[in-house]
Amino acid sequence: MDYSIESSALDKLQNDCVIVGIYENREFTPTADLLDKQFDGLLAKLVDRGDIEGKANETLLLNYLPEQSIERIVLVGLGKKQPLTGKNYRKVLSTCIGFLKKQTIQSTVVTLAEVDVINQDQTWKSRQVVELFEHACYQFNDLKTSKNTPYKLKQVRLLCDSENQDAIEKGIAQGKAISEGIRFTRYLSDLPGNICTPTFLADQAKELAEGNDKLEYSVLEEADMEALSMGALLSVSRGSRQPAKLISLEYRGAADKDAQPIVLVGKGLTFDAGGISLKPPAAMDEMKYDMCGGATVFGAISAAAAMQLPLNIVGLVPSSENLPDGDANKPGDIVTSMSGQTIEILNTDAEGRLILCDTLTYAKKYNPEVIIDMATLTGACIIALGRQPSGLLSNDDDLCDDLIAASEAACDTVWRLPIWEEYQEQLKSNFADMANIGGRDAGTITAACFLSRYTEDYRWAHLDIAGTAWRSGNNKGATGRPVPLLCQYLLNRAEQVGA
Ligand code: BES
Ligand code: MN
Ligand code: ZN
Repeated sequence: MDYSIESSALDKLQNDCVIVGIYENREFTPTADLLDKQFDGLLAKLVDRGDIEGKANETLLLNYLPEQSIERIVLVGLGKKQPLTGKNYRKVLSTCIGFLKKQTIQSTVVTLAEVDVINQDQTWKSRQVVELFEHACYQFNDLKTSKNTPYKLKQVRLLCDSENQDAIEKGIAQGKAISEGIRFTRYLSDLPGNICTPTFLADQAKELAEGNDKLEYSVLEEADMEALSMGALLSVSRGSRQPAKLISLEYRGAADKDAQPIVLVGKGLTFDAGGISLKPPAAMDEMKYDMCGGATVFGAISAAAAMQLPLNIVGLVPSSENLPDGDANKPGDIVTSMSGQTIEILNTDAEGRLILCDTLTYAKKYNPEVIIDMATLTGACIIALGRQPSGLLSNDDDLCDDLIAASEAACDTVWRLPIWEEYQEQLKSNFADMANIGGRDAGTITAACFLSRYTEDYRWAHLDIAGTAWRSGNNKGATGRPVPLLCQYLLNRAEQVGA
């Protein structure tokens, strides 16, 4: 899709379609009002006739405007005449996009940057336009011999006056960078486990780095992990014929090359069958999504690089399969992690924390400013929070505040859960320093408690994305979350550094 600025005066504007808004009290947005005047009160007549009231997300298509250079108008309801929440603004845009997707329209002008949104500026509003169009037009087609019909819409133009031009252009640029990160994350996530193996993931990161000289790729092979005594990570991949990889993708964008990096860690299980503690068959295919955390790291770093943020960011993605095999972990096995702490593996299906704990220990060598990990870690997170927010667990209140603020701005929500000392008891083992599971109670919290034993030296947050990284059911597919949240966090950090 092509995104650009439209600065023609309305009476000179030529386009297939213009999107304008109406509030519940029948008040038009400024552009709707101008068009109404231009077309001799046509819009007002339709309102009088009762065709649209202005309730949020109502739509009315004026499909034919005789002898006008504007061919169509989409009038969309905005609800009460008051600043919209970011969430409702996005809903209105999504409604318009869903509507346009079904039409033969090739080009549209969006004028909704003139709608007031609580706490958000022109840049944010334009960014959302790009993100939502790109999100809606994503299709995973590669593996179908007859492709889905491509959407007709090819061009989106954002109406702006000279005063807002810079802000809107900035929003478009950010929107494109973030959307490409999200698209890449969704694409990797939607790929099946027989294609997207640890080696494949590593190759994808390598390709990303080859296309950008600020990105650097490296990988630890199993022999390297052996040398570093990563006994927990290696134990997971023992049951797989695919070699494990610890992929690192570094972005050095800060003015000071040695500035402490933000370290992003992502779980990269390219398929999780549970191992010897085998999962039941229902929906097991969805465990190809167990690498979504890793895909998120690549997506967010590629977006940060495209936006040339003045930050240093290190991405670390431990990648493996978890399968039953004669050489696989067995319940009761005890392994020694890189930190020296021993772990009794009471359930081989709690493998994510095993590959993450060695990666978190390894991350210390980067002297992180903060470390944020993303993982489809526990089914319990879906039981506790459903599929709306990601779980947030952390040893640092300020970091949580930053992440919560970013998640609200990005409409990519999180909800914090506690990791009080008391929960640690659930990880007691009779035979090792800790068990890898903590029983049925508070499964998301005990998983984070496990990780917290490897992150005591730094400011750390963990995002459990089990309920948010993909959707099940008829529209099964990756969401790209939490790339929007991470990008917003990085943008905010960049602003703080710049200030
Ligand atoms: N990848 C799964 C978590 C998961 C399950 C995410 C279903 C999304 C949907 C993880 O490796 C796992 O199997 N966790 C276990 C932990 C348990 C054994 C303590 C789980 O959630 O059942
Ligand atoms: Mn598992
Ligand atoms: Zn898993």
